[in-house]
Amino acid sequence: MVVAVRALEVLDDRRQSSELRRRRVVGHRPDADHRRREKTGMSTGRDRGWRALFAALTDGQRRDIRQILAEDYAAEVRLARQLAEHAKRLSRFPDARSRLLEIAAREEEHARWLREAIERLGGTPPARVLSPVDARTNWERLVADLEAEKAALDRYLEDAYAVERDHPEVAALLLRIRQEEEAHQREIARILARSERAVLDRPSLDARAP
Ligand SMILES: [Fe+2]
Repeated sequence: MVVAVRALEVLDDRRQSSELRRRRVVGHRPDADHRRREKTGMSTGRDRGWRALFAALTDGQRRDIRQILAEDYAAEVRLARQLAEHAKRLSRFPDARSRLLEIAAREEEHARWLREAIERLGGTPPARVLSPVDARTNWERLVADLEAEKAALDRYLEDAYAVERDHPEVAALLLRIRQEEEAHQREIARILARSERAVLDRPSLDARAP
């Protein structure tokens, strides 16, 4: 459990320090876009750095919304596969296995929402998706899943700001998905915190079978 807590601390430290770096680069800006934030339900505080960063981008630097949604779609499909694959390896831990499968199903649902958003904009979702991340042990797989959920949190915040000006309804969708990823991240952290690494990673009798 100590290791799990430490892993979370390291991830939080990384996230906070990257947020601080961003703030150093773009500075701190007062609530200039208050009305628009109310419209999409965006939160205040740590997001100001992102808002200022994207306000400073020229049109040429802004990513196209279909490109953003395509990348998010691909990430969801990949994460759904990753979680389902990792769940298969947890057959000796039915609770953790079923929780991971439930999260995988939600990621598939997110992919569906994103596919529909892409199609509404006249685009086509990407057919090819990168292979899921694997690792040597169950513990490392769960840590990779936790990191993937945390990366999604940052990505959706960034993407919501990138599309907020021209597509507030898409920004709201991305923030809704982000909220679920936050719950998934907490859920996977709880699985890690409740697990003994040595027990999770003990070779199963199945694995030893010829
Ligand atoms: Fe998701």
